[in-house]
Amino acid sequence: MLTKSPVVLPQIAQERFDRLKSRTARIGVIGLGYVGLPLSLLLAEAGFRVTGFDIDEKKVTDLEAGRSYIFRIPASEIQSARAHGFTATADFSNLSDMDAIIMCVPTPLTEHREPDLSYVENTAKAAAPWVREGQLVVLESTTYPGTTEELMIPVLEAGNTKGLKVQSAGAAAEHGVFYVAFSPEREDPGNDTVARRDIPKVVGGHEVIATTLAATLYEGIFTRAVQVSSTRVAEMTKLLENIYRCVNIALVNELKQLSLKMGVDIWEVIDAAATKPFGFHPFYPGPGLGGHCIPIDPFYLSWKAKEYDFNTRFIELAGEVNEAMPAHVVNAVGKALNQHKKAVNGARILMLGMAYKKNIDDLRESPSLTIIELLREEGAEVLYNDPYFPTVGRGRHYNLDMTCTPLDNLGQYDCVLIVTDHSDYNYEEIVSQSQLVVDSRNATKGISSPKVVRC
Ligand SMILES: NC(=O)c1ccc[n+]([C@@H]2O[C@H](COP(=O)([O-])OP(=O)(O)OC[C@H]3O[C@@H](n4cnc5c(N)ncnc54)[C@H](O)[C@@H]3O)[C@@H](O)[C@H]2O)c1
Repeated sequence: MLTKSPVVLPQIAQERFDRLKSRTARIGVIGLGYVGLPLSLLLAEAGFRVTGFDIDEKKVTDLEAGRSYIFRIPASEIQSARAHGFTATADFSNLSDMDAIIMCVPTPLTEHREPDLSYVENTAKAAAPWVREGQLVVLESTTYPGTTEELMIPVLEAGNTKGLKVQSAGAAAEHGVFYVAFSPEREDPGNDTVARRDIPKVVGGHEVIATTLAATLYEGIFTRAVQVSSTRVAEMTKLLENIYRCVNIALVNELKQLSLKMGVDIWEVIDAAATKPFGFHPFYPGPGLGGHCIPIDPFYLSWKAKEYDFNTRFIELAGEVNEAMPAHVVNAVGKALNQHKKAVNGARILMLGMAYKKNIDDLRESPSLTIIELLREEGAEVLYNDPYFPTVGRGRHYNLDMTCTPLDNLGQYDCVLIVTDHSDYNYEEIVSQSQLVVDSRNATKGISSPKVVRC
């Protein structure tokens, strides 16, 4: 035994604990997307033997060839992880060789804006036959409280051909069990101010052995694991964090609209308020929410709340305000063009930025997609430039066939619309070359020009 666990562990858990503690454990990561791939690399770098699993064969092929498909992850990081033993596969039978399995699959909304847990369910179904005695299974996908216990555990137990059951609270079984925990991913893509390993990792097990094993696993790669009493607490923690962001962004989006009418610069106000050393955290307005988290996660809770006859009014109101922002931007474009004695109908508009936020290559739920749709409905010709997207094709909720327009000859456009404030752009130059710039991000802060309209 290498280290004594603070919890008395049965032999099958103690073996896992020792391997996790000494980082000799084999870890399987299912879902090699924006969350699962960086996590796999972090684990491999820490010395764990990591196998990535994905149903997307192209991702598996790319990783096996040492190629990256995520902009901010250079191929050299994949190659270095491979040198540490990282492999990728679509063959789930390899899961039985793992000491721990971490699931990082999507949790989107359906067309009717209800939780789509089909990915979690299908992954659990595919993994179930291979779950072994003493293994730890962790769900990382963001979801409502109760998913791990009500959906994942029953699917894993039902599909397990060896008849294994999850260890439940109470006497620790010596045989016939596996362990289950939930640990939310807290990554903030594009935010380089906090190293990923310095973001504390919240872990909540189905019972105390699972919590101990999961905390031990994550302490191998994160500076701190925060243990909570249940999977539900861990699930709800993630939702609280994202709802807090969603509601506060809605607040500043609403105050921005009022401030514009009052002739007050909301960004200057926020910067001034942020000098308060307590009780205020700055959030910034924008063209609308985007990404796989903030526009979606709060509605997982609203949906679940209905089961308790509870109406989540803050979430609904924040959703309403934030979802109206793309239309606010399009209105602002219309007004700005009108000032130039032009109409949206027939205008040539170059939109800067497709990604939902700066310096990343993620288009999911991006407000740019709605803005394009609304501008086109009003008869505008819309082109785009985004250094992270040479082309934009078809996605879950959009079907565009667009190619990135070079950032030159800006004077030819009736309006240049800033939707994403990528750092690569030279905003001084953009303003000087354009006839009209509508800025939804305050990217032109400090540039004083009658051509600029902030919205
Ligand atoms: N992207 C973020 O910044 C972020 C941050 C925090 C939390 N999250 C949460 O993490 C989860 C994953 O998000 P993501 O951004 O990595 O998604 P993603 O779409 O980038 O990646 C998911 C991966 O899972 C794979 N997959 C789907 N079904 C599968 C199955 N049955 N078996 C194996 N692989 C399967 C997909 O092919 C894809 O590669 C979501 O719940 C999300 O809300 C994401």
